[in-house]
Amino acid sequence: MIEDEMASGQIHPKGASVVSADDGGDEKFENVLRPKNFDNYIGQTEVKENMRIFISAAKQRGESLDHALFYGPPGLGKTTMAGILAEEMGANLRMTSGPALEKPGDLAAILTNLQPNDFLFIDEIHRLRQPVEEILYTAMEDFAIDLVVGKGPSARTMRIDLPKFTLLGATTMASLLSGPLRDRFGHVEKLRYYEPDEIEQIITRSARILDISIEKESAQLLARSSRRTPRIANRLLRRVRDFAEVVHQGKITTPVVKDSLKQLAVDAIGLDRSDQEFLRTLCLKFGGGPTGLGTLAAAIGEDERTIEAMIEPFLIREGMLQRTARGRSATAAAWFHLGLEPPTGSHLFD
Ligand code: ADE
Repeated sequence: MIEDEMASGQIHPKGASVVSADDGGDEKFENVLRPKNFDNYIGQTEVKENMRIFISAAKQRGESLDHALFYGPPGLGKTTMAGILAEEMGANLRMTSGPALEKPGDLAAILTNLQPNDFLFIDEIHRLRQPVEEILYTAMEDFAIDLVVGKGPSARTMRIDLPKFTLLGATTMASLLSGPLRDRFGHVEKLRYYEPDEIEQIITRSARILDISIEKESAQLLARSSRRTPRIANRLLRRVRDFAEVVHQGKITTPVVKDSLKQLAVDAIGLDRSDQEFLRTLCLKFGGGPTGLGTLAAAIGEDERTIEAMIEPFLIREGMLQRTARGRSATAAAWFHLGLEPPTGSHLFD
C-alpha cells in the first residue's frame, strides 16, 4: 500500500520542494516560531477549545491529563500542540519518535526515567515496531511495564511500576495505528488544514518574531501559496526574506513576493514545478485526460508512486484533478488555473 511505503520512508520525490510539508531539516527555525501557549496559537479552534477544557478539568482534579493522540497531514502543528499542552499543564516534555525506538528496551529506558506528571511525546507513532508498541499497552493503562528477566526455563517477568504520565502521540497515518493502541488514548483529535486568513496571521506573527517588515498584501499573497500549511508558510517567509535582503532593500513588498515565488517556481496557489509539469502535461499532451497513471509517469519522467503520494493529493484536494477508473482527468478548475481553454472534444463537455 502506498501509505505504508510513504510511512516507512520508502518514497522520496526527485528533489525536496520548498512547498513540501515534510520538515526537511527546518526544525531549528520552526522551534523559534512555535507558539508556546494557546493564546498565541492561531487556528485549530475546535481542538484548542476541547484541549483547554480537558486541561482545566485535569488541573481542577489534581490529575494528569489523559493520553492524547493528534493526527493529520504533516506541517499542521502536532508537535507545537504537544509543547503547548505540556506548558499549560506545567509539565516536563520528553520527546521521541516511532522510528527512534528500535527495541522494547529503548522505550523501557525512557519510561522508567519519567518523573510524575511528565509528558512523553512520540512522533510518527504509527511507525513503532510491534514489540515496542506492546510495552506501551500496560504503560498507558496500568502505569507499569512487564520486563522479561533471564533466559530459558529460568526466565520470569518482573513488573516495574511507572509514575503517572501523559502520552502524546502524533501521526500522519491514523489508519496505520493498531486498534489496541488507538483505544488507549482518552483524547483523539484531528488537525485540519488552515484557512487562508489564519495562514496570513501566522505569517504576520512569524515576521514580527523574525523582525521582518512585511506588508499586508504581501502576507496575503504568501498565504495563498502556502498550501494551507503553517510549516510551508514559515519556510516561504524565510526564503522570501532572503530574496528581500539580498536582491531588494530588505522590506517584503508585493513585487518582492511575486519575484521570489517566480524564482522558487512556486505559483499563486502553491503548485511547485513538478505539480505544474504534471498538470500541464495532462492538459496539453493528453487533452485533459482521462489518462493512465503509467502514461503520465512516463511523460514527465517521474515514478508512479511518487506521483500518487507527492503530487496528486494536493491537486485532488484543490479540485483540479480526478482519479477515475479510466485514468486521471483535469477538472475545469485546472484548465482555468493554467489559463488554458479545454479542447472541444474534452470530457468536460460530455
Ligand atoms: N507557527 C506555526 N504554527 C502556528 C500556529 N498554529 N499559530 C501560530 N504560529 C504558528
